[in-house]
Amino acid sequence: MMEINLEKILAQVLMTLVSIKDKVNHLCLDLEAWEIILFTIGTLLICQWGHSALFDHDKSIKSRLANGFFYYVKRLPVIRTVVRNKMDDVLHEVSAEKLFQLKPGMTYMQRLPEKGKNEIEILRDVNEYLSLDVVDWKKGNVSGTVYGGSEELTDIITKVYHKFAWSNPLHADVFPALRKMEAEVVKISCNLFHGDPEKSCGCVTSGGTESIMLACKTYRDWAYEKGISKPELICPISAHAAFEKAAHCFRMKLIHIPVDAVTRKADIHAMKRAITKNTCMLMGSTPQFPHGVLDPIVEIAELGKKYGIPVHVDACLGGFLLPFMKDAGYEIPPCDFAVSGVTSISADTHKYGYAPKGSSVVLYSSKKWRHYQYFVSPDWQGGIYATPMFAGSRSGAIVAACWASLVHFGREGYVNNTRNIIYTARYIEDGLKTIPGIFIFGKPEMSVVAVGSLDFDIFRLSSGLVQRGWNLNSLQFPPSIHLCCTMPHTRPGVADRFITDVRECVSAIMENPTAKTTGAGAMYGMAQSLPDRSIVNEISTAFIDALYDTGKEKAEVNGLH
Ligand SMILES: *Cc1c(COP(=O)(O)O)cnc(C)c1O
Ligand SMILES: *[C@@H]1O[C@H](CO)[C@@H](O)[C@H](O)[C@H]1NC(C)=O
Repeated sequence: MMEINLEKILAQVLMTLVSIKDKVNHLCLDLEAWEIILFTIGTLLICQWGHSALFDHDKSIKSRLANGFFYYVKRLPVIRTVVRNKMDDVLHEVSAEKLFQLKPGMTYMQRLPEKGKNEIEILRDVNEYLSLDVVDWKKGNVSGTVYGGSEELTDIITKVYHKFAWSNPLHADVFPALRKMEAEVVKISCNLFHGDPEKSCGCVTSGGTESIMLACKTYRDWAYEKGISKPELICPISAHAAFEKAAHCFRMKLIHIPVDAVTRKADIHAMKRAITKNTCMLMGSTPQFPHGVLDPIVEIAELGKKYGIPVHVDACLGGFLLPFMKDAGYEIPPCDFAVSGVTSISADTHKYGYAPKGSSVVLYSSKKWRHYQYFVSPDWQGGIYATPMFAGSRSGAIVAACWASLVHFGREGYVNNTRNIIYTARYIEDGLKTIPGIFIFGKPEMSVVAVGSLDFDIFRLSSGLVQRGWNLNSLQFPPSIHLCCTMPHTRPGVADRFITDVRECVSAIMENPTAKTTGAGAMYGMAQSLPDRSIVNEISTAFIDALYDTGKEKAEVNGLH
């Protein structure tokens, strides 16, 4: 029975093929050979163009369609004028004149002073410049930003800076003391993160962004070597923007996967589904910046091992709290090299390492990975050029100051600081939980406490807190604000003052929950409700321009007319 059926089907398929062939031949009867060839090549080219237009792109089809749509809509005659006028109004607000007002009588220095100044004059100038700084971070009013900041530490690192002011790690032969310090910072970090004593390694970089970009470059070059021509990174949507920057700079495709709506942790099933033959890195954050929760590193590392994909842990924020959590009395799941499958870690010494800004470490489970990070030019006329990271010359003083802050606190100091900071964060979390009208995102396990509201626009709260001298981080998708606790917040009274201010602001807001948002908060709300993201780009670009704005040059000074 079965065989007869199969024969029948085969015969039918054959007959269909023959009839298609006849039809095609019939269609081509009137065509000449060259026409057939040209038609075939043309069709092929169109298919190929269509495929690459759809798929050979770093950005998703959806975001490109949206961008394209707004691009053309904004060019329609009437709309163009309206949009332009509105934009010009907005951009006028985003200028140094509006954002960074000087004191009366203060002007910008536009040219190199003709005559040099002595120390007294310079310090007098510097103090005048410093009179512009009105935000008092020492009082614990600012989220994140300054992580250590004690007078004692400031004294130590500036003294060390003084000794290494002219040093440069690029010249290890000239500055062997510095080389020793840098190697020790890496080794100490490897040990803190349970790296294999023989295999683990790393580099000191200029900051978290560089550490992350280097790890991405490492995996890209590894993927290239494996024959993957379009490497893909898979990141939870909560991952730091530096991964997007890396994808952009190194021509990789970034695939964002969602986080759980309640816990805010990476959706491990979505991550698994996103894996393709082009995937060259999985990652999780410990914690992620927006809501301060730990991604499930153990599960992500399992996926990495199962599919042979390297796993990066972004511990830029939590890096120098994590190794001390247990001793400080707080249990957290394992999330470093102790988890098999984790191949690299980024951790910022310039955050909870309490070092001055400009230092971070990127660590690898094995030397094999670090080699993909290096760059060597064997043929440069200036000599053989080999560097571990992006910079050529670097500040040795920053590396030495970083070493000094690690050694200054020692294990015991870090445990104490971690205990104080996490205690403060939990205290604030508990306090905020008693305030009706707001809620805490997920279950914060580290130093960040993120707040949202179902009753009112949360940016009204940040505006209210700004008026009381607080400077919090505003987050989007979903709208939220957070406080990242650092050493200044552990000082007596700061946490209570914060909770009281939030309580009073919220109760004022709750008298009229649907009122319009004003102040800086209004801008944040607007920026995330705009469907046309290119407008946000344009405003952000204007903001960066404003950072470099030194006003108009006086014509008479320059002899311009
Ligand atoms: C701060 C941070 C980074 C890196 O930021 P840098 O400003 O470049 O040091 C990366 N990831 C997370 C989660 C961070 O909080
Ligand atoms: C850490 O805290 C303990 C107990 O409060 C204290 O005895 C010790 O001196 C502290 N150590 C450092 C280095 O701050």
